[in-house]
Amino acid sequence: MEERSKTRICVIGAGIIGGAIAEALTPQYEVTATRRNCDKINGLAGKGIKVTSDNRAAAEEADLVIISVKPVQVVPVLKEIAEAVRGKTVVSFAAAISTDILHMAAPEAHFVRAMTNIAVRVRKGYTLFSLQQDLSKERFPDLEKVLLNLGEIQQVEEQYLDVLTAMSGSGPAYIFTVVESMIYGALREGLPRNLALKAAAYTAIGASCLLLETGKHPSELRDMVLTPGGVTIDGIYELEESRIRTAFMKAIGAASEKGRTLSEEARAHALSDME
Ligand SMILES: NC(=O)c1ccc[n+]([C@@H]2O[C@H](COP(=O)([O-])OP(=O)(O)OC[C@H]3O[C@@H](n4cnc5c(N)ncnc54)[C@H](OP(=O)(O)O)[C@@H]3O)[C@@H](O)[C@H]2O)c1
Repeated sequence: MEERSKTRICVIGAGIIGGAIAEALTPQYEVTATRRNCDKINGLAGKGIKVTSDNRAAAEEADLVIISVKPVQVVPVLKEIAEAVRGKTVVSFAAAISTDILHMAAPEAHFVRAMTNIAVRVRKGYTLFSLQQDLSKERFPDLEKVLLNLGEIQQVEEQYLDVLTAMSGSGPAYIFTVVESMIYGALREGLPRNLALKAAAYTAIGASCLLLETGKHPSELRDMVLTPGGVTIDGIYELEESRIRTAFMKAIGAASEKGRTLSEEARAHALSDME
């Protein structure tokens, strides 16, 4: 078994995502988790995570600081810990908050903006990240090693992060909607609930693995299932009538737009705070 690293990590804002990140990192790192209402994360203490509501002390003691509060809380939290994170690497998982806003709030920290998803709870997240302009990976060489504890990782240009947030961060909610709809379809046909759930979930896993392992385009793989005069084409015909592709394109567009709006609001807020 790999020896536990001596790197100390603090997760500020141990809610849904922050709590999952803290748990995923704990086997390898010494982790401290914070939130204002610590009663809600006492469960983490039983898992070897230090729990506190003192953000400043937690950031002071940490080698790497992770921020996972809501977007609107990011600037106030960074201002609170600005002294404690001088010269340190800070990874923000908040949607829509760009590295230039992060930098304005705590100018002497080095920022990584990241987006992951709820699958971090089972260490199968897909974490996309970009480094603040001019930040070298050498500043915190173990960054990728740390993020790999959450699942797959991918470095991207920051300009793509808003749409990736709409797609990958929000994505599990879309996939759950698809899976739930398939389950309902099967229930109407009399399939037992558990069997329907497993069939839908394993089908989603299998299709995803096939996409990634073959590198083929989804339409090519779909054609392999569409036997002429077979059963699948009748199902696809119904989906096309419901304009399913337009619905998904609109969903990703709407969520991306919301991200951009939040980003502008956060920038205005950060700037007004600086005055
Ligand atoms: N949920 C997702 O699937 C998902 C996916 C990817 C990224 N994200 C991003 O992750 C961030 C958190 O989302 P979430 O869904 O995990 O929200 P959440 O469950 O509300 O978590 C936010 C946490 O921050 C804590 N907090 C608020 N102010 C604080 C402060 N001053 N100091 C310390 N802790 C503070 C809150 O606890 P107290 O009120 O007790 O302080 C809360 O537990 C967001 O920026 C979101 O964009 C979420």
